[in-house]
Amino acid sequence: MDPIRRRSFFQSMAALGLAPASQPAPAIPGRSLPRPVESTGELRRGPYLQAVGPDRVVVRWRTDGGARDGRLRYGDALDALDHVVPAQLVETGFAGTEDWSAVVEGLQPGRSYYYAIEAATAVLAGADEFHSFRTAPVPGQPSPSRFWVLGDCGTNRVGTGNPGKSISARNGFRRFDRGRPPIDGIFLLGDNAYGHGTDAEYQTAVFSVYRDELRRIPVWPCIGNHELTDDYFGIFTVPEHGEAGGVPSGCSNYYSFDHANIHFTVLDLWKAEWKEASSPQRRWLERDLAEAKGDWRIVAEHFPPYCDGKYESDTNGFLVEVREQLLPVLEAHGVDLLLNGHDHTYQRSYLLDGHHGPRSTFDPARHRKHKSDGRTSPIVKGRGPHSGLVVVVTGTAGAEQPADPSNPHDNRLGHPVMVELPEGDQDRRGVRRLGTFLLEIDGLTLVGTQVDHHGGVVDRFTILKQS
Ligand SMILES: [Fe+2]
Repeated sequence: MDPIRRRSFFQSMAALGLAPASQPAPAIPGRSLPRPVESTGELRRGPYLQAVGPDRVVVRWRTDGGARDGRLRYGDALDALDHVVPAQLVETGFAGTEDWSAVVEGLQPGRSYYYAIEAATAVLAGADEFHSFRTAPVPGQPSPSRFWVLGDCGTNRVGTGNPGKSISARNGFRRFDRGRPPIDGIFLLGDNAYGHGTDAEYQTAVFSVYRDELRRIPVWPCIGNHELTDDYFGIFTVPEHGEAGGVPSGCSNYYSFDHANIHFTVLDLWKAEWKEASSPQRRWLERDLAEAKGDWRIVAEHFPPYCDGKYESDTNGFLVEVREQLLPVLEAHGVDLLLNGHDHTYQRSYLLDGHHGPRSTFDPARHRKHKSDGRTSPIVKGRGPHSGLVVVVTGTAGAEQPADPSNPHDNRLGHPVMVELPEGDQDRRGVRRLGTFLLEIDGLTLVGTQVDHHGGVVDRFTILKQS
């Protein structure tokens, strides 16, 4: 189904109160690249895993335009890749390439498979220990689960001052995670590829940097304010028809899925309407959360409701709307955790409910649902409406926002809903350091860990869910 495409680049920048630094360079008339003499069917992207469920997975890849008869071969063992699925060409509109999609169905839950992707006469990739997929566990039933969360990772491009930073953050996590159980999924929290989210920018910012992970771990994308083109929709396959659990969204802007005893909901606050209660996304969100099964409800979107970094949530109109319009919906449906980025800092809240105003109206006695900060002792959380949620701002996968001395009021990492961190900067309720976030859930225990680019732990908190 066609995605919702609502904003032009300049409309989008205006909505954020920002003027674009520069307009895209116009095409040079009269010049064109020569046609390739002969195409080889060479692999140009991927493979990467999408929309995994307990009985299915989608494998995507790209060739240079010369491949024929794309197919996926898979099986339980490397020497027994004896199941074959024909791949289909995806209509992306990207010139000079062929994007392939193989939908594998009828699989067993919680099971690992090896795979290879092939063209007419050759194996393009796989048939080795680096290429495998694992189906989701039985929905609703507890199973130890681990998700790697990347906020604002898309900086790997020459000319921004940030190339290499996402690689550094990635390397820190790889160091930290060595020898630990496998990761079940990767979240991209938006601003995945600067500056306009073009297909070429995605190639360098996402597919080149995380190639080794994406060929064995499903990626769950989210739209941020730098997804300014619509190339995102040609790149990703999301379970918009409820293929992986949850209520079908009917569009590829937002979606949900189940994994073990967790229900994940991914929102688009940029290209699709959400501020009006009658908007399709809001109506779908209400229904999706009301019908969610399992012990945990987790929402991912790009914009933080509370923030005191580059963006200050008392004065930034967009963030005020997130707090006033979206947060009450999440609280009323018992959402446990809200993941977002946008600000290139790490900030993490107490267990909160009902605080929708500026920071001056925050009353810990009223708005904190449990006394613990989650670090020294676990946060104990109930179930159901207004049982409290924790907000994580982790926009540090590709850049760290330096302090701005010219802005002494707005930029001090001092929002009172946020937990004071031992290594916190300025007012200590946040950290300005490259890093990525690890979400681990085992039964009724949730552990969140922010890992820096050296592999060190910046913050680790625990939530215990009452049975
Ligand atoms: Fe952003």
